[in-house]
Amino acid sequence: MSTRAYGAESDTSGVAPLEIERRDLRPDDVRIEIDYCGICHTDLHFVHNDWGMTDYPVVPGHEIIGRVTAVGEDVKQFAVGDRVGVGCLVDSCRKCHACEEGLEQYCTGGNVLTYNGQDLHDGSKTYGGYSEAIVVSDRFVVQVPDALDPAAAAPLLCAGITTYSPLKHFGVGEGHRVGVIGMGGLGHMGVKLARALGAEVTLFTRSSDKAAEGKRQGAHQVIVSTDDEQMAAAVGHFDFLLDTVPVAHDLNPYIATLKHDGIHILVGMPEPIDPPLDAGPLIFGRRALAGSLIGGLPETQECLDFCAEHGIECDIEMLDIKNINEAYERMQRGDVRYRFVIDMKSLKEG
Ligand SMILES: NC(=O)c1ccc[n+]([C@@H]2O[C@H](COP(=O)([O-])OP(=O)(O)OC[C@H]3O[C@@H](n4cnc5c(N)ncnc54)[C@H](OP(=O)(O)O)[C@@H]3O)[C@@H](O)[C@H]2O)c1
Ligand SMILES: [Zn+2]
Ligand SMILES: [Zn+2]
Repeated sequence: MSTRAYGAESDTSGVAPLEIERRDLRPDDVRIEIDYCGICHTDLHFVHNDWGMTDYPVVPGHEIIGRVTAVGEDVKQFAVGDRVGVGCLVDSCRKCHACEEGLEQYCTGGNVLTYNGQDLHDGSKTYGGYSEAIVVSDRFVVQVPDALDPAAAAPLLCAGITTYSPLKHFGVGEGHRVGVIGMGGLGHMGVKLARALGAEVTLFTRSSDKAAEGKRQGAHQVIVSTDDEQMAAAVGHFDFLLDTVPVAHDLNPYIATLKHDGIHILVGMPEPIDPPLDAGPLIFGRRALAGSLIGGLPETQECLDFCAEHGIECDIEMLDIKNINEAYERMQRGDVRYRFVIDMKSLKEG
């Protein structure tokens, strides 16, 4: 079915209207009319081809909230009218150890990204949520609890689960001191979630004007990372760091703020570490550097349910899709409080 969307034709084209094809329903498919889609920094990386892997045209968007408008004959857990979400993945091999554990993000047989991926059945390209509708296999769809505002829930599908998953995996809870580095879409969710899990939370930000806001988000304290005195005062303090910075940056001053056995978890840039990491503080304090990728489908559902239970929502700025290029520029400058969410009415009515 021909479907209206917004996407980029090249790394210099910006994001503009285009038409894409959505497939007819397979037996396990759910057709979703999209109401809201969050803008993740990963969308910018793909549109700008920062990682050299963009296959144009690209239709970004993997923080998708909508309503089910049709289901295939084998679909049992979703019905027309259900409020549902789709995140970063739309398929995986379903057979490897990771898939069997519900960790589809670490699928070794090859998972399929919501956009810039390739369908495992017909080889067609996947297009993301900057569009009026999407068709997805039911295993990769989650239910959105009624208690969540649907627009503010959209970023949970990436920013939420990407911060929830490592906090849960590493057992963050009461008695732990957690530092969240960078307060954008991921960072502000990291602050809220670590707080809800019972940790003592510190926000590291370059932006001193975000200090009051960081505390409002749930941080017990804020460290302005460009202030050497504040950084020096935090040496040896943290059990965990959750690093959401989207570009290569110096990790050494952060590693120094970990206690012995502390873990620095990267979720931001998948790039070489630059400047080089000093191995000494890892060895002399048995500290560890770790990474984490989004979350699997069961844990994504758990994240949405956790947020509903604890009254956690993303702070969003609603966006008319026609203003998307300006929103990208603002996001590039770090000027977003704290997630843009596209109101898809603006696509349907525009
Ligand atoms: N691992 C995963 O599965 C996963 C999933 C989603 C996204 N990501 C990646 O995570 C990164 C963050 O995504 P996001 O959507 O949260 O981005 P975002 O909303 O743009 O926020 C990033 C924040 O990092 C800080 N920052 C930006 N540029 C910086 C710089 N040059 N030096 C130091 N700090 C800087 C800023 O916070 P302050 O102003 O507070 O310093 C900014 O608000 C992106 O690279 C994205 O691709 C990874
Ligand atoms: Zn994302
Ligand atoms: Zn697999």
